[in-house]
Amino acid sequence: MCGIVGYIGKKEAFPILIKGLKLLEYRGYDSAGLALQNGSLVVYRKKGKVAELEEFVLSQKHDGVIGIGHTRWATHGEPSDKNAHPHTSMNGLFTIVHNGIIENYAKLKDDLKEQGYTFKSETDTEVLSNLVEYFYSQDEAINAEMAVQLALSKVVGAYGIAVLCQAEPDKIIVARKGSPLVVGLGNGEYFIASDASPIVEFTNQVVYLNDEDIAVITKDSFTLKNVQNTPVTLKISHLNLEIGELDKGGFDHFMLKEIFEQPKTIEETFRGRLRPDYSEIVLGGLLNVFPKIQNADRIIIIGCGTSWHAALIGEYLLEEYAQIPVEVDYASEFRYRKPVIGKNDVVILISQSGETADTLAALHLAKEKGATVLGICNVVGSTLARETEAGVFTHAGIEIGVASTKAFTAQVTVLTMFALKLARARKTITQEEYSVLVRELAAIPEKGRQILLQSNDKIKAIAEKYKDAINSLYLGRGYLFPVALEGALKLKEISYIHAEGYAAGEMKHGPIALVDDNLPVIVVAPQDDYYEKIVSNIQEVKARKGNVIAIVTEGDKTLKEMVNDFIEIPASHPAVAPLLTVIPLQLLAYHIALMKGCNVDQPRNLAKSVTVE
Ligand code: AGP
Repeated sequence: MCGIVGYIGKKEAFPILIKGLKLLEYRGYDSAGLALQNGSLVVYRKKGKVAELEEFVLSQKHDGVIGIGHTRWATHGEPSDKNAHPHTSMNGLFTIVHNGIIENYAKLKDDLKEQGYTFKSETDTEVLSNLVEYFYSQDEAINAEMAVQLALSKVVGAYGIAVLCQAEPDKIIVARKGSPLVVGLGNGEYFIASDASPIVEFTNQVVYLNDEDIAVITKDSFTLKNVQNTPVTLKISHLNLEIGELDKGGFDHFMLKEIFEQPKTIEETFRGRLRPDYSEIVLGGLLNVFPKIQNADRIIIIGCGTSWHAALIGEYLLEEYAQIPVEVDYASEFRYRKPVIGKNDVVILISQSGETADTLAALHLAKEKGATVLGICNVVGSTLARETEAGVFTHAGIEIGVASTKAFTAQVTVLTMFALKLARARKTITQEEYSVLVRELAAIPEKGRQILLQSNDKIKAIAEKYKDAINSLYLGRGYLFPVALEGALKLKEISYIHAEGYAAGEMKHGPIALVDDNLPVIVVAPQDDYYEKIVSNIQEVKARKGNVIAIVTEGDKTLKEMVNDFIEIPASHPAVAPLLTVIPLQLLAYHIALMKGCNVDQPRNLAKSVTVE
């Protein structure tokens, strides 16, 4: 996905746009550009990071109080100057920045070519800019926003766009369908962005556009309607984001900051929900649907990537404690495999961003089938948050590192609270068991602080030993099998080392063939019900000269003598062990990636939220 910004008001637009693009760079960073309206409309585009665009623009005239900008994650056309946004129509009338995919762009492009239109780029966005110009030129009565509406009525796919018109230079037109857009309401000025981070410095009054909304913004007015031309009620929301969350806070990278924030963010996830006396767990966002959840036939939990790993932990928790059948599915599979969904099913969609295209498509499918649809999400005002009938915010704060860390532990915290609350309601655990588990959960932040304080240097030393590995294997059992998957995902997505997470019990069914003295095998092996079995797995690896790095319960002499390297974590109840065991794996991936010179906050080919298929 990409990041879009826009400004219209009294200040110089360039500094606002470029700072906004830097805050959105985690959404896509292979090329960037902006357009400034100052009597004439000037476009600046550059392959590479926003900083390169900034240098390029500063080297030339760049004034104007109206402008739009874009930082790209390439979908159509390789990263290059010519494919960077904004894209201008053939006769220079319309300039557009776009986040999304126009699925029928090839057909539209052919039709426009027959009308004599020519193209300079490979992008679907340039097709849209020419399509808008085509409609605009059909009749003098058609103004800029009407031309945009007509063009969008021909588009199949997702878009979040900001449009400048050379012939109507005092306005910005924005529209969304499937890709988020937020408008900040200032005093005689308006701010446009893909999410609230570039806006919070200027105003906390925002409007989140809904699908098929279109708005015309001048420095004095904000007119919202939908592409069918019917007025839309303006719903002004109040931002609860703090500007301080948008910097690294003294850490070298956002990812490291967010790893170290986890004890605090887990406490934030508890706030108002885990009563100080642990007497009950309050999940206010589920209040009106809790009876339906309590009596559901089945719970289906859906997500992508890290969110899917959290879903797996949710499955284990809910089946063990609430004794309710649970299924977990990748959103990208669920949306197409024709799942059987009943009206007594509860479908929970997990998404940090709340904008992942596959997850939103799964949401719409579950809704169509009549299931109760809930969200676990980290972004207030996101599409998922607004389109589910109920849900729980993870309150992890904005997560800028592309590799998800604090959002994952916040998701698992919510799922743990949810499972315990449901188990109490269904009377499938005793008050005594409930109290033990709630106290174990409440103790996690302090134990997390202990790990961060005591293990970071040792993990860095271990990273030094294994940073040149080509492949790696992550093993875990029970609640720690999804943790092994998550640890492997962290390593591969930021260090580009091939890493595979596996259920440890599955080793003998194939992966053990990989084991030799070049293969680091990371085993999540705290003392729990699987301990003896996982010790056997470690012995099997050692017998084949594999190098074992184990996450062990502090004081575990057996494993400390058996393995090549170990990281100790405080003892905890197995049901909450994922929240502790994942921290060393996050740090291991971070340090290895750094030692390899990788960009840990903006790994190649990735984007923070995949808002396109
Ligand atoms: C996690 O580190 C990845 N960045 C990625 O797998 C991510 O979890 C996935 O794209 C889902 O994103 P979401 O939680 O915002 O829906």
